[in-house]
Order: sequence, then structure tokens, then C-alpha cells
Amino acid sequence: MALKRNCFVFFLMWQTVNGDVSYSFQEEMKRGSVIGNIAKDLNLDSSKLSARNARVDATGNRKRYCDISLSTGDLIVADRIDREGLCGEKLSCVIKRDLVLENPLELHPFSLHIQDINDNSPQFKEESINIEIRESADRGARFVIEEAHDADVGQNSVQQYSLKKNEHFILASNGNTIELVLDKELDREKQQEINLLLTALDGGSPQRSGTVVIHVTVLDANDNAPVFSQAVYKARLLPENSPLDTLVITVSATDADEGMYGEVTYGFDHVSNENQMFSLNPKTGEVTVVGSIDYEKESSYEMQISAKDGLGLASHATLIIEITDKNDNAPVIYLKSLSNPIPEDTPPGTEVGIINVQDRDSETNKQVRCSIQQNVPFKLVPSIKNYYSLVTTGQLDRELVSDYNITITATDEGSPPLSSSKTVQLSVADINDNPPVFDEQSYSAYVTENNKPGSTLCSVTARDPDWRQNGTVIYSLLAGEVNGAPVSSYLSVNGDTGVIHAVRSFDYEQFRSFKVHVMARDNGSPPLSSNVTVSVFISDVNDNSPQILYPAPEGNSFMTELVPKAAHGGSLVSKVIAVDADSGQNAWLSYHIVKSTDPGLFTIGLHSGEIRTQRDISESDSMKQNLIVSVKDNGQPSLSATCSMYLLISDNLAEVPELKDISYDEKNSKLTSYLIIALVSVSTFFLTFIIIILGVRFCRKRKPRLLFDGAVAIPSAYLPPNYADVDGTGTLRSAYNYDAYLTTGSRTSDFKFVTSYNDNTLPADQTLRKSPSDFADVFGDISKVVKKS
Ligand SMILES: *[C@@H]1O[C@H](CO)[C@@H](O)[C@H](O)[C@H]1NC(C)=O
Ligand SMILES: *[C@@H]1O[C@H](CO)[C@@H](O)[C@H](O)[C@H]1NC(C)=O
Ligand SMILES: *[C@@H]1O[C@H](CO)[C@@H](O)[C@H](O)[C@H]1NC(C)=O
Repeated sequence: MALKRNCFVFFLMWQTVNGDVSYSFQEEMKRGSVIGNIAKDLNLDSSKLSARNARVDATGNRKRYCDISLSTGDLIVADRIDREGLCGEKLSCVIKRDLVLENPLELHPFSLHIQDINDNSPQFKEESINIEIRESADRGARFVIEEAHDADVGQNSVQQYSLKKNEHFILASNGNTIELVLDKELDREKQQEINLLLTALDGGSPQRSGTVVIHVTVLDANDNAPVFSQAVYKARLLPENSPLDTLVITVSATDADEGMYGEVTYGFDHVSNENQMFSLNPKTGEVTVVGSIDYEKESSYEMQISAKDGLGLASHATLIIEITDKNDNAPVIYLKSLSNPIPEDTPPGTEVGIINVQDRDSETNKQVRCSIQQNVPFKLVPSIKNYYSLVTTGQLDRELVSDYNITITATDEGSPPLSSSKTVQLSVADINDNPPVFDEQSYSAYVTENNKPGSTLCSVTARDPDWRQNGTVIYSLLAGEVNGAPVSSYLSVNGDTGVIHAVRSFDYEQFRSFKVHVMARDNGSPPLSSNVTVSVFISDVNDNSPQILYPAPEGNSFMTELVPKAAHGGSLVSKVIAVDADSGQNAWLSYHIVKSTDPGLFTIGLHSGEIRTQRDISESDSMKQNLIVSVKDNGQPSLSATCSMYLLISDNLAEVPELKDISYDEKNSKLTSYLIIALVSVSTFFLTFIIIILGVRFCRKRKPRLLFDGAVAIPSAYLPPNYADVDGTGTLRSAYNYDAYLTTGSRTSDFKFVTSYNDNTLPADQTLRKSPSDFADVFGDISKVVKKS
């Protein structure tokens, strides 16, 4: 098939433009060829050309290409003129030169129009062109072919192409391009290669041409897509935490085509987070693990995969990977609430906290059992779902355990099981439930009498295990009376320290002991208290001298005992009776005769005070005997008292007138005898009275209660107020028994009275009192007589 191109009119012309001369001629003219007679055209005299040195000039050093013949005036070709070399593809190719004349100088420009001749053939870039066309290419498919090129211009350039006739292709032009058009389908299986000859023709005369061989390779068509062996691949039981590169599954697809078309490449359809866990080998179809598989994040994966052949035909399948759980999460214990601290009086069964247990695993791996350590009074009570209540099981006692570290352990049922624990710290708040307790059941304080006021007696201590003010102990005295006075006038207690002080000086002879109650109270609200007995024992100091009851102390009264003349040695004559308000050694009295008329006649019992004759009385013995007796206690230092005892050695009152002999004052002798009569009669009267009373009382009671007053009776008013033995421990205090011997009158009239001077048996108000002056009244005159003797 031929292609007609635009044709250009070719003409050669003489032309004078603006007085310029121009010539048009074909390229490649031989040297010496005449272009035209320029002398004639310029009206120049050709004979003078030589003389005027006519020549063609080119500006610069460019080639002149033409010359003037000086003889004829013709313009001749002086060089090869190649249009393609001078002007390339420009359609108009003009060379401008000047004709120069001298004498006079003249310059005549002229131009040369070079005309193209068909001196070049069309040419393809390469000698052959290879194209591959798939056998499946449709009829009408176009394939662009590179154009041929011709250096000539105009009509002489490429004007048409022609394709050697063949079965399958025709030539078509689309604008400036040329295309092969498939006119009949190819079949690789019939003909694998086709050679086509394409010719390009120009429009010159003679016509020139160039050819190229088009080598067509018929390619196999990819008529089969890869096919997966399964539409859905399911990989079950991939355990979580499988190591990297674990093979999960292998997918496979086959392609019926050969070679490249049958070569299957596998891949994921989309790239997402999910399939970053797995890799799909593009060649082998093996799916392996490349990430960390966590059941708790994703329990199954679903991915679209595809298989592609070399030319991109693809098919798709679904890949499902199911992960199985492993017990890789320990239970976690959360403390949801906690009452802390809890008061110690919280009753058993009180909920003090709520605990929640979670396990991220599934199935049995998330079944959790919760336990608590044994030795605490708390338990866990399962509540809804995974909640537990922390409940008290027993009575709390802050004083025993004030803090609990409760360890809760949660264990799941996986294999192997995992467990975790949490320690809950719980403190017990104080309740004022303990009264202060004294260290001792009772306290005793010992103090010697005459102590200084303010001296410390003892201290009491009470302890309270409660907390802070609930355990702060304050001491105080409980109100009470000692001997009718408030205790606070005797003692004081330091509220903070429990130290007990004496407020006043104590007198043993007033009281030997007393009891007070000290209370210890805590500062709680309400406060609790307890009390304790404090016994104060006052010990004796020898601050009382012996007191002589009989005979009346020297100087105050006058006492005389009758001693029978016939008294034998060892006879009891009289007795000195003395008491000491002190006690113990301080009241243990001893009697001594410090001075006597006849030192060998009488002795005194060291402790009894009994005066006895040492030998038989003889006629020569003086009738009047005088003894001075000293009574000493055994204290340190010891105190003493003295008394005088007057003894008359006589058998009866008839001899009383003899008293005159002993009287130094004759004037008073009569009075003295009266007095002695009075004394004897009073004594007799009292004796009778006492016998009657004794008889009466003896009949009524086995133990007679003897009340009497008289010369030898010991007035109880003389006794110290607490004369009775208090504690029964004193040596001489067990019974203050005094034997009184009445020796007035004859020895037959001796009476022995045993009297217990005990506060119990002889109340103070029933005591018959007799003051020493009473005796003085009776014996006043006698005393004077004795004193004088
Ligand atoms: C409880 O634990 C704390 C801190 O671990 C510790 O200081 C305290 O002594 C413990 N208490 C008991 C009663 O074990
Ligand atoms: C003392 O006990 C009371 C209850 O009896 C209680 O309310 C208070 O908090 C306790 N004080 C202290 C300091 O623990
Ligand atoms: C002292 O304690 C006793 C028991 O120890 C109690 O019976 C008595 O009531 C208490 N007295 C006072 C005043 O608290």
C-alpha cells in the first residue's frame, strides 16, 4: 500500500528584487558551470571587468561558492554546493554574496537560491525492528513502527510506505506515525515468527527508497489463571506465643500455563496490622509466624491471599488462622475498697474490703481460686462473679495485734497454674476497752511515825494497754475517811506518777495503820477505771516514856504497902505497874530498884515488876522501907520513869499508930492515923464491892467483866487510846494483862485480879476514871508525912 505525500512545485527563476540580482540553480552542479551573466544583468562593461579587478566577495572567510569570469562576465560554480549540508531541512536555501569592482569602487550584492535535488534515499534507523505480539492479540490491534527519514526536502523527502504483502498485517497511518494493524489473528502454535518488509519511498525523480525488516515474534497467550487448591485455608490450634518462623500452613495454587505464565507468586491482598503477624512466602506458599501471637489480643486472624502468575493473572483465597489460648497470664488481684483502720470492736463477720480478681486467659485458664493465709482473723467470701468480700472471722484486739498483713493469693486452673498474691495492710483502731490495771493486788506503805509532811510513802503503778489517751492513766484518791477526817488530809497522790505523799505527820500512838483506795482512770471516753487498796502502816518510834500506873508517879501521890512481919523470903509484896504507849521493844519494860532503904531485903522482877522479899523479915528490919523503882523501855534510846514505893512492915492495922514512929511530924500523927484508917476502910469497902460484882458477873458469864476503881485499879484513862493490839504481832501486845495484888490488910486478904484491858471488853465510856488528884485527895496528908520521913 502506498502513501501519497504533499507535493511541492519546483521552479527556477530570474528575479530582481530591490535592484538586487538573484540566481536560482540546483545543488551539486559541476565546477565551472555557468549560473548566469552577472555583468550583463548589472549593465557592466564586460571588457573593463578585468581592468576594474572584478571579484566575488564573501563577508568573513566564508566560502564564495561562485566566481566571475572576467572575460565573459559569467557567474560560474567555484565549489561543491550541497543543499543538505548548507541548509539542512530548511525548504528555502539562499546564499548572499557581493560583486566588487574597483576604479571606481562599486559593490553589487546578489543572492543564490539553491534548489534541492533528490540525492538522498529514505532510511530507517535500524536495519530490523523486533516486536513481540501475544497470540491472543485481537484483530485491529495496532503496533507503532518508527518512521524512516530522508535528508532531502519537499517532494524529495519520504512520501510513502509500502508493506510487502502478508497474511496478518496491513499498514495504517495515523497522523505522522505509521502503525502495523493486525488484520488476521495470530496463532503461536501455527507460526511463531513472521518477517515483514517495509519500504519507505520519497517523491523525487528518480524515486529513491529504503527498507526495514520487521521481525514479529508471536508470544504465548496467558490463558490460565493460577487456581488455589482450597477456597478457604483454615489453620486451627496455633498456640499463642508460638516462636518466630513456626510454620502455620502451606497454601498452594497451580497455573496451567507454562513458564512465566505458570509461575505462581503468593501474597497478601492488603497489608494490615493483622498480617504483620504472619509472612507468606511468595514462592513456596508457606505461612510462618513473624510476630508475637497473643491470644488475648486477637484470637483469630482472617486474611485474603492471592496467587499471581507472571503476567498478573490472579486468584484469591481466604486464610483463617485460629489461635489457641495458653495459660500465660497470671490472675491479677485488685483491691476495690478497704476500710482501714477498722475499730477493734468490729463484730465478727463484718465486711472490711472488696477484692476483684481478673485473669486475661480464657476457659479454664481464667478460672481463679482465691485464698488467704491461715493465721489471720479474716476470710474471703466469694461474691458475684470475680468479686470477693474480705470479712472478719473473729474478735479483733488491738492490744494483741495492731496490724495485719493479709496476703491474698489467686491461682488459676491452667496447667501449669499461675498465681499471684497481694498483701493488704490493715490496722486496728483502738477502742477504750481496757481499764487500767494495777501492777499489784494491793499496796502497802510503811512509814515511821513523826514523818515529815510531804514525804513520799510509796508509789502505785497501773498500766493500760490502750492507745494514747485511751491508755493514759491518771491516779486519784477515792474519797473516804480515816479516823473521821477525809483521806485527803492524810495522803495525796500524784495524778501522773502515782507517787503517794504524806500530807501530815503520823502518830503511831494515834493509829497504827489505815487504808485508802487509789483509783486509776484512763482518759478515754467513757473513761475506764480500777481501784486498789493502799494500806499504810505506821511504825513506832520510841517517843513515849513508860508511864507508871501504880504506884502513882513520884511526887503526885502517896502509896504504902503493908508487908506482914512473918513474910518469908520470896513472898510477893507489891507490884509496879507501868505501861508504854509505844509498842514492841519500845514498850518492853524492865524494872529496876535504883535505891532502897535496905538493899538486900526486896527484889523486883525484871519484867514483871513484882516486888518480893529476898529473905525472911526479921525483927531488926526497919518497919518503914522505901524503894525507888526505875522503869525503862527497850527502845533506842530507851526512855525511863521512876517511882517511889513505900512499904510498912506490920501485921495489922493495930500497929498503925507505930506510924507515928515513922512520922517525923508529931502534929500530924493523929491525922495520919485517921487517914490510914480511912484508907483501910475504903480499901475494905472496895474489896467487898468488887467481890460482890465478881460474884454477880461470874454467875452470869464465865469470863467476868471486872469494873473496879481503887488504889490498885489501873484507870483505863491512862491507857493509850489504841492500847488494844491491832495486828496481834507485838510481843507484849497480845494481851495487856496486869496482875494487881491487894496487900492491904493481912496476907489472907490478898486478891488477885486479872483484868484484860482491851478496848473490846472495856469501852472507854464505861471506864471508871480516877485521876491522880483523886488519890491525892485521899492520901494527901499521908504523902506529906512520907515526904517528910
Ligand atoms: C507488714 O508489712 C510491713 C511492710 O512490708 C512491715 O513493715 C510490717 O512490719 C508488717 N507487719 C506485720 C504485722 O507483719
Ligand atoms: C479511744 O477509744 C474510743 C472508743 O472507746 C475511740 O473512739 C477513740 O478513737 C480512741 N482513741 C484513740 C486515740 O485511739
Ligand atoms: C473499786 O473496785 C472494786 C472492785 O475492784 C469495785 O467493786 C468498786 O466499785 C470500786 N470502787 C470505786 C469507787 O470505783
